[in-house]
Amino acid sequence: MTSPILVTGGTGNLGRHVVPLLRAAGRDVRIVSRHTHANSDGIEHYAVDLLSGDRIEPAIEGADTILHLAGGPKGDDKATGHLVQAAKRVGGVRHIVHISVIGTDTMPMNWFRIQLDAEKAVTGSGIPWTILRAAQFHDIVWTMAQKMSKMPVIPVPGLQFQPVDSREVAARLVELTLAPPAGLVPALAGPKVYPLGDLLRSYLQAHGKRRPMLPMRMPGKAGKAYRAGENLALKGNDVGKRTWEEFVAEHAAA
Ligand SMILES: NC(=O)c1ccc[n+]([C@@H]2O[C@H](COP(=O)([O-])OP(=O)(O)OC[C@H]3O[C@@H](n4cnc5c(N)ncnc54)[C@H](OP(=O)(O)O)[C@@H]3O)[C@@H](O)[C@H]2O)c1
Repeated sequence: MTSPILVTGGTGNLGRHVVPLLRAAGRDVRIVSRHTHANSDGIEHYAVDLLSGDRIEPAIEGADTILHLAGGPKGDDKATGHLVQAAKRVGGVRHIVHISVIGTDTMPMNWFRIQLDAEKAVTGSGIPWTILRAAQFHDIVWTMAQKMSKMPVIPVPGLQFQPVDSREVAARLVELTLAPPAGLVPALAGPKVYPLGDLLRSYLQAHGKRRPMLPMRMPGKAGKAYRAGENLALKGNDVGKRTWEEFVAEHAAA
């Protein structure tokens, strides 16, 4: 009998794609998230706040693999530190797979530094690990466009994105989770690079909306890093197949 796989953040956008794939591969799954959910066939839920660091151990006991997807706007370094410390206390964990983001080591912004510290909590844990850095998911670009489209005039800094489909990221993570620890693997981004203005225009078009856009230059080190493409997957990394246009068509139809 195989041990269950612990998926933190298994109820999130990415987790909702990952969990059925792990079940289809015949693995039982434990999910950690802050909210309570009913258990179902082969899926057990544990309501734990990784930021508090309390009561993480019961979710880990008996699991030899952790797929760490839980994340939020703040404290991912601290939450990841709590998770790996609990895994060390419990023992028996032979593989931690961690989802991170492209640019942790190069983007001069606090959120990226926190993601790098979260990676360091994993790499310094002494537990064998795999880290996949991904680009922004289509879903998050969609949410960002939704918010920006509420403005009467949209300020558009000259940024570029290479959005990736969260289902493709989920499939890659499942492959990595079921394989031996592989360290830092090639990053995964979408098949095309788009200026932010193009992403916004296609969102507006799909909703039959029009908004004036005001091009602007993002100042400082962050602007420089974006202009240098530090948030993109360059040579030697992996690209997915599903384009932003396909995602928009599907969402607009829904
Ligand atoms: N979205 C992107 O574009 C993108 C790109 C690259 C990498 N990533 C990384 O991928 C991961 C998943 O992204 P996502 O889009 O699936 O996020 P999401 O939809 O916001 O889901 C976050 C998940 O984490 C759980 N969670 C949040 N804070 C928690 C805490 N303190 N303790 C326990 N569980 C917690 C949430 O459940 P509850 O709310 O019930 O706690 C939920 O299950 C994140 O770590 C993110 O940094 C995202």
